Amino acid sequence: MDKIILRGGNRLEGEVRISGAKNAALPLLAASLLAENPMYFTNVPHLRDVTTTIELLGQLGARVIIGERMSVEVDATDITSLRAPYELVKTMRASILVLGPLLARYGEAEVSLPGGCAIGTRPVNLHLKGLEAMGAEIEVEEGYIKARAPRLKGTRFFFDQASVTGTENLMMAATMAEGVTVLENAAREPEVSDLAECLNRMGASISGIGTDELVIEGVDRLDGVEHAILPDRIEAGTYIAAAAVTRGDVTLQGARPGHVEAVIDKLREMGAEITLGGDWIRARMDRRPIAANLRTQPYPGFPTDMQAQLMVLDVLAAGGATVTETVFENRFMHVQELQRMGAEIELSGNTAFVRGVGGLTGAPVMATDLRASASLVLAGLVAEGESAVERIYHIDRGYERIEEKLALLGADVRRVPA
Ligand code: EPZ
Repeated sequence: MDKIILRGGNRLEGEVRISGAKNAALPLLAASLLAENPMYFTNVPHLRDVTTTIELLGQLGARVIIGERMSVEVDATDITSLRAPYELVKTMRASILVLGPLLARYGEAEVSLPGGCAIGTRPVNLHLKGLEAMGAEIEVEEGYIKARAPRLKGTRFFFDQASVTGTENLMMAATMAEGVTVLENAAREPEVSDLAECLNRMGASISGIGTDELVIEGVDRLDGVEHAILPDRIEAGTYIAAAAVTRGDVTLQGARPGHVEAVIDKLREMGAEITLGGDWIRARMDRRPIAANLRTQPYPGFPTDMQAQLMVLDVLAAGGATVTETVFENRFMHVQELQRMGAEIELSGNTAFVRGVGGLTGAPVMATDLRASASLVLAGLVAEGESAVERIYHIDRGYERIEEKLALLGADVRRVPA
């Protein structure tokens, strides 16, 4: 398995282009299954999870053409299978996103139950409860979700916990249900709104976009459209954090400042100087970070996907801070690895108590999940000596060419095939 070797101490300087968002691309690719004719996506990030989703669409019988610069055309006009197999779903939980579209368009679907993952059990009970509320008959047998619904019916459904892919799945299912569906306590992440905008351009009738109450009036058919994938706000947040932690000066091109407000506010609190333009963000830092408490929340609050990365700044800050993870039950897997580099962190339930240290020392560390890997790379950028981040396939799921982008900014980093 590949690993990334870093030698700390270089300031990051220069420009980096932000890629399309993994968490926008995955639901949009699934939405292709709703369209009577081809969908055409641009700015698609070249990531493992995107490749896995394309493979899954292919297995369902869709014709997928990958063009130059990772444009992707999906023609799902004649699907030959309604089954998403365990072999694929086990590598990517977001495969569950084909369930809603297949049910809506074909009246049945068989999707392997996604397993848990490092950050938590990650049940899909809300997805299933919502589809049952829309009239689907759902059984779980031999590890597969078997769903049937001759015609989904509109309903009012309350999410007792905000769920990003839960909202996306039910919204896609509702686009072709009979009557009106109201999703209450819906997720408001930008990727959810972007999916809704795309579905409306395909012929759906969704209102309340960007709010926590989505109203979807069912229609009989949806048509393929062209759609550009949203820039990745978590990748953007990660590079802003990389600029700050190395006391550098980095400009992100092709970013959406409005989607990273909570992260920008927190980094300014930590002492970073951040200036914004229409599609660029400049981050500078020339001091030791100021400790700041972090508490993850659903959007527009501080994102759980940025918790591990900003913890690294608290690890190096003057003072102490608390980091509270309210979304997932086990999203501190990076802590013990950071401790091996010299971080002083105590865990108690869903809170980490961080006491800032003056510096870190390089060490071989293990990536456990996507964002934990990113935090270990950030730590390696500043740790004294050499760090080796192993099992780097985790990071390839959500960061396009991370070692190339960091090297272009002046980092001493290289990928070593195992
Ligand atoms: C999405 O995951 C993202 N993935 C995650 O990004 C992100 O961390 C998460 O939203 C929260 O923002 C994609 O969009 C592909 P949830 P999702 O449903 O939808 C519980 C990354 O690093 N829950 O919003 O799976 C769940 O256990 C990944 O890019 C239920 O209990 O997350 C969690 O505690 C990691 N039952 C909370 O809700 C359900 O049916 C929020 O989960 C669904 C969720």
